[in-house]
Amino acid sequence: MNFDLKTYLQEKQDLVNENLEKYLPVEGDYPIEIVEAMRYSLLAGGKRLRPILTIAACETVGGMALDAMKVACAMECIHTYSLIHDDLPAMDDDDYRRGMLTCHKVYGEAMAILAGDGLLTYAFELLADSDKSNDLNINSKLIMIIKEIAMAAGVKGMIAGQVADMLSEKAQREKSTELLDYIHKNKTAALFKASIKSGALIAGANDTELTALDSYAHHFGLAFQITDDILDIEGSSGELGKPVGSDERNQKLTYPSLYGLEKSKQMAFDNVNAAVNSLNIFGSKAIPLISLAQYVLTRRK
Ligand code: IPE
Ligand code: IPE
Ligand code: MG
Ligand code: MG
Ligand code: MG
Repeated sequence: MNFDLKTYLQEKQDLVNENLEKYLPVEGDYPIEIVEAMRYSLLAGGKRLRPILTIAACETVGGMALDAMKVACAMECIHTYSLIHDDLPAMDDDDYRRGMLTCHKVYGEAMAILAGDGLLTYAFELLADSDKSNDLNINSKLIMIIKEIAMAAGVKGMIAGQVADMLSEKAQREKSTELLDYIHKNKTAALFKASIKSGALIAGANDTELTALDSYAHHFGLAFQITDDILDIEGSSGELGKPVGSDERNQKLTYPSLYGLEKSKQMAFDNVNAAVNSLNIFGSKAIPLISLAQYVLTRRK
């Protein structure tokens, strides 16, 4: 199989962007300010990795990208909401995201909070509607998918990770390896896991396939957040589209702060290898997922 990751990413990003544009409330819809703020952050760019992974997981198991499209777009809405709130002054207090001023810098804090709320809630509207976008009867599965995603985004997943991340700032808590793993597993890996599992469920994955993909997603998520921590030190804000040095300024508990840069890079590498090794049962069908995991190590944004 001749596989070019750059072309693959571009094609999938275009597909996701096209569909986000199609499903989102349109400009000029009432209330104008909130729709504008939601669209501003959602359509600002971004790598679209979570929806791409939903589609990739669906295709790896033999499903069709279009069947996973609304779920994929819902994942991007949830992710973008998390970024809007993550950047607020009460949280990481960052001014740039996706190469543009953060939502609260443009629309004010109240509108940014509400735009995040709006995107999160809209995601579930899309999810509840997602069986209408295809001919598959995925109704019973859909309830399972919605629960997976709600749990991953909620107080047993991403919110839990964000809470621990905030409480780890400065010297408020002991900075242990267990706490660091808890933060990364929840604030980042949980959403990747739900993205991948939902794509696999749509395609009718069996238990063996789900277990393999779950392991892949766990290691992918950890590697992704470790490299995010590394890029916050070694990256360029121009390429990242967000400030560097945010973690140090906020005295966050990160991989480099606990292990140093070299060990962190080794740990990212080990997690990518573990992610790739989880996919053996899929043979060559896993090539896109394998390439996506390897890309985590070389990404500059
Ligand atoms: C940033 O995610 C937040 C983390 C969980 C590290 P991405 O690096 O995927 O951000 P976008 O979507 O490309 O802007
Ligand atoms: C954010 O982690 C994880 C989220 C759930 C949004 P970071 O705070 O490190 O993400 P960036 O670096 O601001 O994108
Ligand atoms: Mg944060
Ligand atoms: Mg942040
Ligand atoms: Mg970061």
